[in-house]
Amino acid sequence: MPVKIGTIDLGAFPLLLAPMEDVSDPPFRYVCKQNGADLMYTEFISSEGLIRDAAKSLQKLDIFEYERPIGIQIFGSNIESMREATVIATKAGPDLIDINYGCPVKNVACRGAGASLLQDIDRMVAMTKAVVESTHLPVTVKTRLGWDDNTKNVFEVAERLQDVGIKALTIHGRTRAQMYKGSADWSMIRDIKRNPFIEIPIFGNGDVDSVEKAANWRMEYEVDGIMIGRAAIGYPWIFREIKHFFATGEHLAGPTIAERIENCLTHLQKSIEWKGEKTGIFEMRRHYSNYFKGLHDFKEFRMRLVTSDSQNTIIEILEEVKEKYETEMA
Ligand SMILES: Cc1cc2nc3c(=O)[nH]c(=O)nc-3n(C[C@H](O)[C@H](O)[C@H](O)COP(=O)(O)O)c2cc1C
Repeated sequence: MPVKIGTIDLGAFPLLLAPMEDVSDPPFRYVCKQNGADLMYTEFISSEGLIRDAAKSLQKLDIFEYERPIGIQIFGSNIESMREATVIATKAGPDLIDINYGCPVKNVACRGAGASLLQDIDRMVAMTKAVVESTHLPVTVKTRLGWDDNTKNVFEVAERLQDVGIKALTIHGRTRAQMYKGSADWSMIRDIKRNPFIEIPIFGNGDVDSVEKAANWRMEYEVDGIMIGRAAIGYPWIFREIKHFFATGEHLAGPTIAERIENCLTHLQKSIEWKGEKTGIFEMRRHYSNYFKGLHDFKEFRMRLVTSDSQNTIIEILEEVKEKYETEMA
């Protein structure tokens, strides 16, 4: 059975790329899409920023045809601002609008946005209703289990947000108090899936970092799809590997050195196209060690890659990487 968000058909058991600030920008999304992500989201965008025309927020609205289906994720504490931001985000032409009720970071949560809405479900419901009423697009929500161990209220949240019209819910199996510590617990996600009143797709999120885990948790927690964040950073192949396993029951071999380099170059190229040469090269620096994780003695190459300001030099260094490791691993 295909999973649907409104009329958007995601196929059977979709894999979603998580929204990640400073990571899931268009260049990164490009390589994830190439490797099989079924649904992607922008980084979270401040509703106040959008309303005030803040350049950084507006730039995050950039989406491209090949990315579809794609959701724009917004957050905020003021219901009227969220209403206005929804109208602005809708004009950017995404396939859906996602609301962030999961961000645990102090300057978001303590200003009454993100996960802090988990402390006031009535307000969360009112905000969600306002967003749903402000767009013709499907609205989805991403949240956590609750604020802390004493208030794991996502079961109620799921029912009430479905009632006001959301079309899918992604749950990160941690509380706000946990931040990113400890391990994700998906058992409440299964409770929600088993709730006979819940009809919308429920996606599980948190700690999926291997084909085995995706396969086991799919069975164990009965989710409609999985959202992957950190494990895709420097390893966008995780999407195709999981999909291959589901389709064939067999493990796909990991990427060759040549593929890693090709992918890294594409990411760099897209970064430069979208951000300009200087910023594109600078912001790509955080990705090199992830793309080449596990290669022995890579440190010297990494140092050269992160100190180079020229695209041509970076290409040359990557050629050297290819020569060194291709022959060693052949
Ligand atoms: C660097 C980083 C930035 C993130 N930014 C966002 C964000 O903008 N919006 C959001 O809903 N979640 C954000 N998250 C949370 C992720 O979407 C995801 O819920 C979390 O990383 C758990 O999934 P994972 O274990 O697959 O990484 C961020 C996480 C990381 C590591």
